[in-house]
Amino acid sequence: MIASQTHLRAAVLTILSSLAPQAAAATPNCHCYLTDGSSPEYFANHKFFDFRNIANPQVPPPIDDRDGSTNAPVANAYFDSTNFTDTWSIQSWVDAGAVYNTYSKNDVYIESNTDANPASSTYLTLRTYRHPAGDFQSSAEIQSISPNYQYLSMRMYSRTLGAAGAVAAMFTYRGGATDADVQEADLEILTSDPSNLVHYTNQPSTVDGITRPNATHEITIPGPWTSWRTHRYDWTPGTSSWYVDGELVNANSFQAPADPATILFNAWSDGGSWSGAMAEGQSAQMQIQWIEIIYNNTAEPSQYGHCANVCSFDSGTEPGVPLLVSSGP
Ligand SMILES: *[C@@H]1O[C@H](CO)[C@@H](O)[C@H](O)[C@H]1NC(C)=O
Ligand SMILES: *[C@@H]1O[C@H](CO)[C@@H](O)[C@H](O)[C@H]1NC(C)=O
Ligand SMILES: *[C@@H]1O[C@H](CO)[C@@H](O)[C@H](O)[C@H]1NC(C)=O
Repeated sequence: MIASQTHLRAAVLTILSSLAPQAAAATPNCHCYLTDGSSPEYFANHKFFDFRNIANPQVPPPIDDRDGSTNAPVANAYFDSTNFTDTWSIQSWVDAGAVYNTYSKNDVYIESNTDANPASSTYLTLRTYRHPAGDFQSSAEIQSISPNYQYLSMRMYSRTLGAAGAVAAMFTYRGGATDADVQEADLEILTSDPSNLVHYTNQPSTVDGITRPNATHEITIPGPWTSWRTHRYDWTPGTSSWYVDGELVNANSFQAPADPATILFNAWSDGGSWSGAMAEGQSAQMQIQWIEIIYNNTAEPSQYGHCANVCSFDSGTEPGVPLLVSSGP
């Protein structure tokens, strides 16, 4: 009896070990990643955050109390898992705008995808909500723990829905002693705008009350941001380039960020002139199925010691899955 169990276990181990090399062969051994588009670059690292099938999706009821909202716990156990916490932190801080606005963990959650033909089971939602009670807004923000991303290609498969008076954004940020010293590249969707207009900016767009018109471009994108689209920002030396569904929609070298930065996603409103004021009881949501970050410049592959196997995330069919595109000596 014991002998035959041992025998069986040995047979299973043999099968498993014969399968393992095949499974490994499916994912290429990538030394660096080459992006496509108008300013292709080689990057050393990659992260993929897949929100399409997360357990226990639930839309948290709003917390109609300022302090309760600011101090809320995370809305899903996923946000306490290392998959998330190794890279991101959900923000909770108060922005004393025209309307009191607090960033709350309660407004960052995993929701069931109830689309007619859903492309996923769940997605991440960043919500901003104007509480009818307590006269305040609560908002959502996730921020990278590392402030040291330098050059990247970041993508999100997302849509933005909901009431006017919100900003939904994907951006890089590096603070400075003065407004003039800030380095920040923004993709901003204003829910009061036509649904195909996006603002792309290399901040600062205003310094000491003087606007810098070249910092910002208002672009009509190929289709509405209320539908699922891949929004992509490429930060390469000297240039910011933004893409929608693989199509370049804006490139701006004026004030392109230069130094290492933090990555952020948010949905917010503070009643000010940029976001506008949201009506009480209304909300807006930026919903995200996945986020991909290809980051940190590496050596040119001519220095093949650094990167023999070049992979791409733009040539494959599955988001987040690399394809080997060339192999050096
Ligand atoms: C963490 O990521 C791994 C690999 O993608 C996945 O198998 C696992 O289910 C994830 N865990 C959670 C809690 O999402
Ligand atoms: C990017 O590369 C720099 C230089 O090697 C490093 O200091 C930094 O930590 C890297 N950033 C991340 C997010 O790993
Ligand atoms: C701003 O843009 C205008 C028009 O494209 C250009 O003529 C000007 O040189 C730019 N200014 C700077 C500081 O880049």
